[in-house]
Amino acid sequence: RDTAVTAEGGRHMTDASAQEPRPEPATPPDEAELAEAGLLLEVDGAVATVTLNRPERRNAMTFATWRGLARIGRSLPPQVRVVVLRGAGPSFSAGIDLGMFSGGEQPDGSDPEATDRFIAELQEGYTWLRRPEIVTIAAVHGHAIGGGFQLALACDLRVAADDAVFCMKEPALGLVPDLTGTKPLVEIVGVPRALELCLTARNVPAEEAARLGIAEIVTPRDRLDEAVRGLVDSLLAVNAGAAVATKRLLWQAPGNTLEEQCAAERREQIGRLREMFGAGRSAT
Ligand code: CAA
Repeated sequence: RDTAVTAEGGRHMTDASAQEPRPEPATPPDEAELAEAGLLLEVDGAVATVTLNRPERRNAMTFATWRGLARIGRSLPPQVRVVVLRGAGPSFSAGIDLGMFSGGEQPDGSDPEATDRFIAELQEGYTWLRRPEIVTIAAVHGHAIGGGFQLALACDLRVAADDAVFCMKEPALGLVPDLTGTKPLVEIVGVPRALELCLTARNVPAEEAARLGIAEIVTPRDRLDEAVRGLVDSLLAVNAGAAVATKRLLWQAPGNTLEEQCAAERREQIGRLREMFGAGRSAT
């Protein structure tokens, strides 16, 4: 079992995902950086598990957490096909560490360009979760508040324990959700419901989250890990190249016209047919 991402491991491509162009992984965060970020990382073959690991703070996230997540995204070895995000202790995440608001690093917006760059860097901790080469799963239990809810929304799929509660708290604190969450929330529930959830900052329990499409699966709390493992196994059973191409297709569908989407389907299928039946087809 690999317990850390290594640059060396990152150069080995062991399955059909090697057919897809993928940027060379950056240097992975070391143990000290992960500890400062409040994160654990485990890579076991095709599955990476990222654990938010400040249970005594309900996994409240700091700027270092978001930078650490971005580093993990940049350094993920190519053999990884599924990434699971989970929280240690009683909750998935209580969102931003409220201590950040009084810390020296918090921008006050007086330099809009610098603030824009600052937030964009933090958003990088979330955007990599949509990359087509991986399928990302948030395993949510307890609270997923603010930046924690947005982290779950940044994933492709959410498996919720029956004790999970989602809350977009930012407007109640005078802020907007700015960690990439507004787009997936609107894509899932539509503008009116997203507006209601954000502007009331109310708690959404697991059952309602499932009804709204925020969670794909709801499971008893003590069976969360098992449910996630089952989902991971099903995802890994599908051809790797087809999974990458299909994720790429599905995520572009909402922004495409029917004509554009039909063309995208044809393009992706040509790639699949080449790989399966063409002269340069892979042995796997
Ligand atoms: N930041 C810092 N510390 C936090 C925290 C947070 N977001 N959430 C919890 N903690 C700390 C508590 O202060 C407490 O510390 P002590 O033991 O030292 O007192 C410890 O974690 C345990 O917390 P609780 O005793 O409150 O635990 P609970 O299980 O009863 O309640 C909770 C859990 C509902 C998450 C509650 O702690 C809570 O409401 N936390 C604040 C949530 C919040 O407002 N987050 C900000 C959202 S906005 C955002 O994330 C995005 C953005 O950029 C603005």
